Amino acid sequence: MARKVSSASGSKAPDASGQGDEGFVWRRKDLVGLDELSSDEIVYILDTAESFKEVSTRSIKKVPALRGKVVGLMFFEDSTRTRMSFELAASRLSADTILFTAKGSSVAKGETTLDTVRNVEAMGVDIFVIRHKEAGAPHMLAKKVQSSIINAGDGGHEHPTQGLLDIFTIRQRLGQIAGLKVAIVGDIAHSRVARSNIIGLTKLGAEVIVVGPPTLVPSAIAPMGCRISHSLDDVLGQVDVINMLRIQFERFASNLFPSLREYSRIYGMNSQRLSRSRKDVLIMHPGPINRGVELTSEVADGPNSCILQQVANGLAVRMGVLYLVSQGKVLQTNGFSTRPEGSGRG
Ligand code: CP
Repeated sequence: MARKVSSASGSKAPDASGQGDEGFVWRRKDLVGLDELSSDEIVYILDTAESFKEVSTRSIKKVPALRGKVVGLMFFEDSTRTRMSFELAASRLSADTILFTAKGSSVAKGETTLDTVRNVEAMGVDIFVIRHKEAGAPHMLAKKVQSSIINAGDGGHEHPTQGLLDIFTIRQRLGQIAGLKVAIVGDIAHSRVARSNIIGLTKLGAEVIVVGPPTLVPSAIAPMGCRISHSLDDVLGQVDVINMLRIQFERFASNLFPSLREYSRIYGMNSQRLSRSRKDVLIMHPGPINRGVELTSEVADGPNSCILQQVANGLAVRMGVLYLVSQGKVLQTNGFSTRPEGSGRG
């Protein structure tokens, strides 16, 4: 039996068998973004994930929390980590899964996203995991279907489970979030990972500095509560965490910097820059990495990197999220208010 973890808010996450304590009650059927969540809800997800992490250390890595449920993995856009992580998370919770990928589907015949999801829902799916190139697609679906919707990345908008697993990893490695300084470096303009990280980290009391060339760091990001810098060298020695973002070439309409060599020279993380950073600085990257562009292999595979730990933690975070939305759906079906208790903050 996994331990029950007290959150900073005093809430009690469910243990790995799915048994929660009285107190905080998760009431949402969907997880579409961190923007909608209070700081208490974010901490509750992290604590729930903590209790599910122990399952992966067992010889039989399964719990019955979602036995009899069906999870639909709907990938309208490519993915390796998120798709496989959700699939394994659902399997460890004893759910059945069905996989949809846009390539080879009736999307090519003009079927809309809503029609596709409604048809799959008619097969008896309880929870949909949606990745889509259009920002807002999961939010639209959450309003239109009865099943739970989890956003697995919508365009340049949000990637809430990536944000959560990043925050989970920082908390695991550094013990806290409040008071930390976190640099998010690179292609902020196109990054749903940056948005979810900024939202989640600032709600939990971290200071976030976004770093990159003016063409990749829109000034409109500042009202999200972060500081902007165009010099990685200026912030290196100030921060506890450096999260290097992938350059999303597939979202570029035109060249936004002179050359990859130039980008890497000014904004790439390498051994020289690491030696000028804090000794225990945490180096993160959501993947997939453009090796030699955002960071060198020496840094990506070195002792300060927690890139594979992020991936490992993603499994526990997604188990927690799948479990919580299934509980929220039960409450909503039974007519309880969807307004979370104690959600005054954040
Ligand atoms: N980090 C991330 O979302 O990776 P994938 O695109 O492979 O899912």
